[in-house]
Amino acid sequence: MNTFYNILVFIHIFSAILGMGPGFFLNIIPRSAKTMSELRHAFKIKHNLHIAVMVGGTLLLVSGLLMGSINPYLFKMGWYITSLLLFLIGLAMGPLVLSPITKPMKAILASHEGEDIPEEYLRLNKKLNLFENIANILFLVIIVLMILKPF
Ligand code: HEM
Repeated sequence: MNTFYNILVFIHIFSAILGMGPGFFLNIIPRSAKTMSELRHAFKIKHNLHIAVMVGGTLLLVSGLLMGSINPYLFKMGWYITSLLLFLIGLAMGPLVLSPITKPMKAILASHEGEDIPEEYLRLNKKLNLFENIANILFLVIIVLMILKPF
């Protein structure tokens, strides 16, 4: 059982680096786009990278919960419960907050003619940046809790 636990820790840390790592930089990808063509290309890159983040995030959650099921005392630890809650909040932000903002942005990308980036897109992008930064802060807090296990 101890070996299985160690394998889970291994998967967990690998997923944190390869899966969560790129997630922190998703929002800088479209930042330098100056034309609609560049923006569309940036969104494709962001979309592909986001798949890695989703796989990594799923592995993080599953391995974390499996470690909890092997060592149930973890469910009494503040750092574990807080991380789990923050993670679930971060996860829920996808469909509840981020998706309603990116949907109209993608519609603009699909329908807008010409190379100028429309004002409405820029307005939505500002909003998206704010919530992406909030999600990043949540995940940074989780990493601090994971490493320090302070309470
Ligand atoms: C953003 C998400 C997460 C990241 C980046 C992350 C990262 C890490 C890292 C780097 C460690 C190794 C720290 C160390 O022991 O020195 C760790 C440990 C651990 N994580 Fe996570 N984690 C995340 C989410 C979760 C979640 C949601 C759970 C619970 C469901 C969880 C459960 C655990 C457990 C139980 C350990 C301790 C392993 C051990 O040393 O026995 N993690 N995590």
